[in-house]
Amino acid sequence: MRRKPILKPLFSRFRYLRLAHKNQDFVSRHCWRKPGAITPVARIISNKDFMRKLFVTGGAGFIGSSFIRLALAQTDYEIINFDALTYAGNPDNLEGLDESRYRFICGDVADREAVGAALAEDTDAIINFAAESHVDRSIASAEQFLRTNILGTQVLLDAARARRVRRVVQISTDEVMGSLPEDETAFFTENTPLAPKNPYAASKAAAEHLVNAAHHTFGLDTVITRCGNNYGPRQFPEKFLPLVLSNALHDEPIPLYGDGRYVRDWIYVEDHCRAILNVLENGRSGEVYNIGARNERRNIEVATAILDALGKSHSLIRHVKDRPGHDRRYAIDPSKVERDLDWRPRETWESGLQKTINWYAENGSWVARTRNGAYRDYYAQHYGTEISAR
Ligand code: NAD
Ligand code: DAU
Repeated sequence: MRRKPILKPLFSRFRYLRLAHKNQDFVSRHCWRKPGAITPVARIISNKDFMRKLFVTGGAGFIGSSFIRLALAQTDYEIINFDALTYAGNPDNLEGLDESRYRFICGDVADREAVGAALAEDTDAIINFAAESHVDRSIASAEQFLRTNILGTQVLLDAARARRVRRVVQISTDEVMGSLPEDETAFFTENTPLAPKNPYAASKAAAEHLVNAAHHTFGLDTVITRCGNNYGPRQFPEKFLPLVLSNALHDEPIPLYGDGRYVRDWIYVEDHCRAILNVLENGRSGEVYNIGARNERRNIEVATAILDALGKSHSLIRHVKDRPGHDRRYAIDPSKVERDLDWRPRETWESGLQKTINWYAENGSWVARTRNGAYRDYYAQHYGTEISAR
């Protein structure tokens, strides 16, 4: 007997859901609960086999847009990008995407109605990049950080439960674990206690607690990733590395906080995004994965590496007043993601930095548009000096 066409989508959706549940049960019974490395079976039956539709939040920002580009290029996923287009959200970051599998919705993650209206019933996963992400701005005023980073995360978790979304991936940060001593033997692991030291980090730590609470209380499938400092194309120039780069390209002074010997653990953005895709597809429910490229650098070293690559003088560097409560050192131990998910960075510091420098040098109009009036006002207020409108 021929099925009525109207029932066909329902029928296949039902079969797909049953299959997904069978897969999920099978994987969690036989693979995901085993300690240590995931088995070959878990690799054969991964989330990838029943993921189709992703709801990415904050996808107009630096890392979210890189993730969307990667996921569209390397998978068949359909992607909704839900982003409020704050000062950090840039439609230029989304130019040239394959529109047949991608749609943009402008909305605020802390707005329950907007999220409810945008999140389709058949969404398989939420990947939450949406955040206020700049530490200096959180020190100037924390309120918007609490709304987006904390309330926004809770709204997404509630919506995920209501819509029976299969998995939520929370993009967190190494900053939730506070600051390490300069002693080179100490690293952040997944078991390092949360000890955030600035308002941004505190808001991200609160979000992690809410994600874990949703997992433990309601059985929501959640995974948390914690990464260090990303660099690469399309990063807003308020952040240190693109600030150094864009100021150096304009022969403008480079503000270095304090003694400039603070240590960050740098990773090329596409390597981070490949790890997120891997965690989405293969990560174990309820777990945290630290993502890092074993690439600690002092800020002064980052600045001089960029100046040298551009053939500019080190005299552009200006030591300026330090950031209050400045975390001395971040350093990630990425052994778990390397061992369990077989992830490795592809870029070295040298190759990633060269790609980044090339991108900024070749995309002068993107740089000029981001260094717009609002950014120049922020810059003048924060640093007490002006940058050019070029
Ligand atoms: P970003 O500031 O470049 O982008 C943030 C994006 O979120 C923007 O597109 C913005 O419009 C959007 N957004 C902000 N508030 C929103 C709201 N209320 N509703 C919907 N969208 C909103 O940030 P990024 O550097 O790409 O960071 C992305 C995520 O990764 C953040 O969660 C951040 O905490 C985390 N993270 C960043 C780094 C890093 O080095 N940049 C490292 C580790 C983790
Ligand atoms: O570690 C991950 C975190 O990295 C992310 O969670 C944050 O979203 C991201 O902004 C970044 O936080 P940092 O505070 O480490 O990044 P930022 O680029 O602001 O600063 C990097 C280092 O450079 C830090 O030690 C402060 C210093 N700095 C920064 C600025 C803006 C300067 O010396 N001068 C500056 O003008």
